[in-house]
Amino acid sequence: MSAVPANAAAEPVLVVRDLAKSFGGVHAVQGVSFSVEAGQMLALIGPNGAGKTTCFNMLGGQLQPDRGAVLLSGKPITGLKPRVVWRLGVGRTFQITATFTSMTVRENVQMALISHERGLWNPFAPARARHVAEADALLAQVGMSEQADRACGVLAYGDLKRVELAVALANRPKLLLMDEPTAGMAPRERIELMALAARIAVERNIAVLFTEHDMDVVFAHADRVIVLDRGRLIAEGTAEEVRQDANVRAVYLGSGAASGGH
Ligand SMILES: Nc1ncnc2c1ncn2[C@@H]1O[C@H](COP(=O)(O)OP(=O)(O)OP(=O)(O)O)[C@@H](O)[C@H]1O
Ligand SMILES: [Mg+2]
Repeated sequence: MSAVPANAAAEPVLVVRDLAKSFGGVHAVQGVSFSVEAGQMLALIGPNGAGKTTCFNMLGGQLQPDRGAVLLSGKPITGLKPRVVWRLGVGRTFQITATFTSMTVRENVQMALISHERGLWNPFAPARARHVAEADALLAQVGMSEQADRACGVLAYGDLKRVELAVALANRPKLLLMDEPTAGMAPRERIELMALAARIAVERNIAVLFTEHDMDVVFAHADRVIVLDRGRLIAEGTAEEVRQDANVRAVYLGSGAASGGH
């Protein structure tokens, strides 16, 4: 027993068991199970249409699963509404950035803090002067202090993504879901954003589940990688293990190993 690390028995933040969802005849997700621990970055990868976004939507409450269970710190959250899931500590950034363009960077974060305090997401709550110090601390953490007074509508895309991360963190999530957070960003910006997310995951002990098409970003920042193909998990392991996996190679190279197509 003495050789076992103190946190070895710690419960994973997220446990997913046998999750499934079909749309008519399309079996988008077919019995997927995995878990993510606090402070860990887990990448969910797979080709277009593999079922990644469908998985995210079942975790965030946007979609009802056909079967299976989602546990947050051991408690079932399966099928709960998005705002309830959010209140329980699941933060989310979206593929399409979800900030209010006419408000300043700081106001966007203030509003998220106010919503967290009330336990209810209400985008129309007035931000006024509340939570300025806390908002500024979050903006410093994501490297956006200098742009705090600018309207979100005039920001560069990569900066908007940082604001979105600060907004998600305002909810003090246990679990952060990031669906293609770096889509539309330049390669250098991608690496920087995910390095930031990885640092924050460790500092705040947050479990992070992210999807990403850029394999350089995945291999640089994921502690573990799971691979979906046509709704099924086909591989799981470290970046290096997954990179060497024959099934994964086949999926990414097309059906024939020699074809080299997509
Ligand atoms: N609302 C829906 N209605 C019908 N079919 C859907 C719906 N959402 C997803 N699908 C189908 O389910 C499958 C999985 O889609 P999903 O968006 O989860 O894939 P993905 O891995 O996120 O792909 P991408 O890398 O392109 O984002 C696809 O065949 C898709 O066409
Ligand atoms: Mg998707």
